[in-house]
Amino acid sequence: MTLTSTDAEPHVARNYSPIPVTAATAEGAWVTDVDGRRYLDCLGAYSAVNFGHRHPRLVAAARDQLDRLTLTSRAFRSDRLEPFCAALAELCGKEMVLPMNTGAEAVESGIKVARKWGYDVKGVPDGQAEIVVAHGNFHGRTTTIISFSDDPDARNGFGPYTPGFVQVPFGDARAIADAVGENTVAVLIEPIQGEAGIVVPPDDYLPRVRALCSEHDVLFIADEIQSGLGRTGTTFACELWDVVPDVYLLGKALGGGIVPVSAVVADRDVLGVLHPGQHGSTFGGNPLAAAIGHEVVDMLSDGSWQQRAADLGAHLHARLRDFVGHGVVAVRGRGLWAGIDLEPEQGTGKEFCIRLAEHGVLAKDTHGSTLRLAPPIVVTEDEIDWAMDRFADALDFSRR
Ligand SMILES: Cc1ncc(COP(=O)(O)O)c(C=O)c1O
Repeated sequence: MTLTSTDAEPHVARNYSPIPVTAATAEGAWVTDVDGRRYLDCLGAYSAVNFGHRHPRLVAAARDQLDRLTLTSRAFRSDRLEPFCAALAELCGKEMVLPMNTGAEAVESGIKVARKWGYDVKGVPDGQAEIVVAHGNFHGRTTTIISFSDDPDARNGFGPYTPGFVQVPFGDARAIADAVGENTVAVLIEPIQGEAGIVVPPDDYLPRVRALCSEHDVLFIADEIQSGLGRTGTTFACELWDVVPDVYLLGKALGGGIVPVSAVVADRDVLGVLHPGQHGSTFGGNPLAAAIGHEVVDMLSDGSWQQRAADLGAHLHARLRDFVGHGVVAVRGRGLWAGIDLEPEQGTGKEFCIRLAEHGVLAKDTHGSTLRLAPPIVVTEDEIDWAMDRFADALDFSRR
């Protein structure tokens, strides 16, 4: 099968360059296109489909709520929001939840909360708050967030930029120590950098960041929007290093692959700095989102999804390691999440993903010749083996 890239969407803004597959239906780990071709989804909507497409429990929760109440705005209470927030707070071992919609909104909200905490609690002079971030970060697409990105595509042409951010190399705790000053209110990092290519930091990094933040009265904000909720074989990637941040930023899989649901989760001494009128969202915490998010939290509460991601992830990584030196330069990741650097002869990551799709597997490049695999956790070991055989088929040695 050959996939051809035509301009099939003349009315869609060109902020993406999709692989030429037009999905029509999906179930579990499989997607079917408009021509009836089936693909194993090894991207999982960038970890937003951790539980598979249209998981029956999540669809049932959504349907049930669709028949009861979908939107009130926060002008009134719904009977869904407090139970959802209580359950999510418990999953995180925290006290409060600020519900939002997209991941970028959770990040924006986390930044606002950290600044407010800095002024109200830490005593930083007004307008002087600084947040330490990492090179290679990806936290979303809003004007403030791209202000501290070092990806030229994400950043260039969108200034003026929001000040108040200090960039340091990812994985270097000493650089954070050097960057932290009197006005630092937070360190904001992805525990494993997703968009950068599933970059796993050295084992002492997160424990040292945790210690530094505690020592200097600085909030440790972990953006677990892509890494969290089972993906790495644990509920949160931070757990891989026994680290508990002050603030979790969650999104993607929290919406069960059905609706956008995101959240800032922290203790009362942090989230309690927000008072009525200081932050909000018409859709944040809506009853439909809360019902689905609550079901996601319930599904994660017995640890079986996390265990499945750990077990299948070990298998996936073992299979991928066999490709190193045979078309692949390096493989990284944890759990059911892998970044793969291709040898230059394989062409760009995008070219490889198109070949992979022609063999029936959906994946996505991150940048250059790196691609990312994040299959839904419902995938089976046999399906992973099948995908790895297709991966071998897609490797192109004719160019050497
Ligand atoms: C770590 C991280 N943070 C934030 C975001 C932004 O999420 P959204 O696209 O829902 O705004 C992403 C999206 O890929 C992400 O990977």
